[in-house]
Amino acid sequence: MSKRIAVYPGSFDPIHNGHLDIIQRCRPLFDEVVVAVLHNEAKKALFTVEERIESIREMVDADVRVESFSGLLVDFMDQVGARAVVRGLRAVSDFEYELQMALMNRKLNPRVETVFMMPKEDYIYLSSRLVKEVFSFGGNLEGLVPDSVIERLGRRLPPRGPAA
Ligand code: PNS
Repeated sequence: MSKRIAVYPGSFDPIHNGHLDIIQRCRPLFDEVVVAVLHNEAKKALFTVEERIESIREMVDADVRVESFSGLLVDFMDQVGARAVVRGLRAVSDFEYELQMALMNRKLNPRVETVFMMPKEDYIYLSSRLVKEVFSFGGNLEGLVPDSVIERLGRRLPPRGPAA
């Protein structure tokens, strides 16, 4: 029987505890999980793809693969032999965007199935965008991102004071 391989794709700029929670939850469901960091020249990111991969590798078990991809997700899935896409679903507001992506991916490759997973309630409001914003204003991110990510943010984002 062929291996059940899942891809967990995203920008991960940076990875936060909601992402890590999804990785932990999906790992036992598949023979192999590949975390796939999107390489997108058009989207300005805080961290390079290499930095994001390094940061994720520090946080996940050795049996989780971490790779980058560019172009279509379904093409990357073909390359790694995956049929399932894992996506975290937080609030209802995520649904429309996720539905569009899932159906487009299915149109591009009917063998691809998207598996939606709910993160732990503590992380339901968490996003990489908010992590960067809160950090830049000196807010407390304890329990929401790994310490190593806070250190990386500190090296990259000088704290901003409140507006005068
Ligand atoms: O963490 P994000 O930014 O919500 O992840 C979005 C991602 C990487 C899953 C999505 O942008 C993607 O799959 N991009 C690859 C391009 C692609 O395949 N587009 C067509 C399917 S919608």
